[in-house]
Amino acid sequence: MTSNLSWVPPEVDTNVPNPARVYDYWLDGDHNFQADRDLGDQVLKIMPGVRDAARLNRAFLRRAALHMVEAGVRQFLDIGSGIPTVGNLHEIVQQIDPECRVVYVDRESVAVAHAKLLLRDNDRCAALQADLRDVNDILNAPEAKELLDLDQPVGVFMLLLLHFVPDSWDPHTILARYRDRIAPGSFLALSHVAADADSQGLDEAIEAYKGTQNDPIPRTHDQVLSFFDGFDVIEPGVVGCAMWNPQGAGDMSDNPEINSLPYAGVGRKP
Ligand SMILES: C[S@@+](CC[C@H](N)C(=O)[O-])C[C@H]1O[C@@H](n2cnc3c(N)ncnc32)[C@H](O)[C@@H]1O
Repeated sequence: MTSNLSWVPPEVDTNVPNPARVYDYWLDGDHNFQADRDLGDQVLKIMPGVRDAARLNRAFLRRAALHMVEAGVRQFLDIGSGIPTVGNLHEIVQQIDPECRVVYVDRESVAVAHAKLLLRDNDRCAALQADLRDVNDILNAPEAKELLDLDQPVGVFMLLLLHFVPDSWDPHTILARYRDRIAPGSFLALSHVAADADSQGLDEAIEAYKGTQNDPIPRTHDQVLSFFDGFDVIEPGVVGCAMWNPQGAGDMSDNPEINSLPYAGVGRKP
């Protein structure tokens, strides 16, 4: 783990665990603190497969991005992008076409500070600190205006994000606001912790998050499917993340519970 803390934004309270940094810890990243590791370890004790689930989610990100590039998309908006880690969206898509543009958005300071650092020499990418709900601020930000042409299809990613969005925020309306601004032919990729996947320990693991002000809210298959309102969900539909068009052994776990812990799907705006 990192011992030089000079990169830590001043507003970050390193004593309060944060989901972005807990996730970074599970993915063996360097941008987490003791409080994040403590919560991460507590959850790992309850659900040892959660580290694999995080890895499988990243593998889904790759397959969904490749699908979109194959469909001709060259611009991407990754909201709740997290702390840059292995296999970031821009690395995947720019490897195929260096002209691809990516705007990353996260509300967590460490995630955005690290993304800005990583992207400083990449003039086709930008990182913004914003909340998912600030649709206009995000889409009208100078960086987004420069990199994204909303008259052309965009690949929008919201992976492992919406389970941090309570119903009281009206996630369907938030999604509709993005959907209405993006061109036909755009894609939406989602992943979301499943409420009905029979994953042992899930309730206890969620309990462990209480007090972080970021309690995950698992949702059922139908609820996750409903987030694709106004999109045509492409095959194989909303499925356990590992079952979304796996291409190799690394895309799946031996543990069926972990394969289906997050739901995942991709929709296309007609
Ligand atoms: C579990 S991480 C997922 C990271 C990445 N999308 C992935 O799937 O690998 C969830 C991310 O969503 C961010 N997040 C949570 N609520 C958010 C909100 N309302 N607006 C923007 N980002 C948010 C967190 O800061 C965190 O970085």
